[in-house]
Amino acid sequence: MKQIAVLTSGGDAPGMNAAIRAVTRTGIQKGWNIFGVRDGYQGLIEGNMTEMDSRDVSGIIQRGGTFLGSARCEEFKTEAGRREALRSLNENEIDGLVVIGGNGSQTGSFNLFKMGFPVVGVASTIDNDLVGSDITIGVDTALNIALEAIDRLKVTGSSHQRAFLIEVMGRNCGYLALMSAIAGGAETVVIPEVETDPDEIAHILSQAYERGKSHAIVVVAEGAKYNATKLAEFFEKHQERIGFALRVSILGHIQRGGTPSASDRILASRLGAGAVDCLDRGEFGVLVGWVNGKVQTTPLEEVVDKTKQIDLELFDLARKLD
Ligand code: F6P
Repeated sequence: MKQIAVLTSGGDAPGMNAAIRAVTRTGIQKGWNIFGVRDGYQGLIEGNMTEMDSRDVSGIIQRGGTFLGSARCEEFKTEAGRREALRSLNENEIDGLVVIGGNGSQTGSFNLFKMGFPVVGVASTIDNDLVGSDITIGVDTALNIALEAIDRLKVTGSSHQRAFLIEVMGRNCGYLALMSAIAGGAETVVIPEVETDPDEIAHILSQAYERGKSHAIVVVAEGAKYNATKLAEFFEKHQERIGFALRVSILGHIQRGGTPSASDRILASRLGAGAVDCLDRGEFGVLVGWVNGKVQTTPLEEVVDKTKQIDLELFDLARKLD
């Protein structure tokens, strides 16, 4: 290995910069040249990459987002797009590639690996839905942002005796919703993994009202069949039964834009360094993740097209603590 490239792809996640920094600095320590690719796979296709030295990644560990830029690249999903990417990697004499990203991005890296290129993935997504990592880069920060929002909404909710439907991101995975519901002391939670009857939620809210609670919080995962908008539509017809006046708050991309927490910076540094070690020992086509308290690798073919299952005991716990 003499020259490696690193890119960030898909939805950005707080901590990506720390991972780029770790790849760059540990790679340089091995005597390699490190290239930063702009805007994910799009930059790879266009050959938009520049060599980075240690100073180029100074002052980024505390910054959210990704200083290399990211993209969801449709062209890379095609055979022609991937061939173009391979051409530009060869043209720039790149020997190995690190892809920092989530599910879709690692499908991309697996496809490139199958075309014979040495690729290593780094588990990074706020959704925490990646098989091959107990926790992914960005989750801790996103969770804390959701939590801060819940805490604030409880304050205003109490002043007006209102119930809030708070929708959090996570695509098809309920992890962020579940964890923020437990940590935020929500009355209940709605996640894609568990079918929910809106009637049941209305009942939980009316009981909370009757018990004299000053507010009620329902954390709703965006991927649930009844997301916050659909639940609100249902509740409009059942207002009297619920008791509380209802408001909806959709947190959306706010969760992605935070300053990375200490946990995310450390995780990203460890996984980034782990990816360089993989390339060094010739272990390609794997995802570098955090498994059982250690940096570990999982073959990309076991990672792609899957969604990590959440612990449903935590769902029972969330519902018990209302
Ligand atoms: O995968 C991260 C994520 O933030 C999901 O939680 C969300 O569904 C999606 O990305 C949003 O995508 P975009 O940033 O392209 O709108």
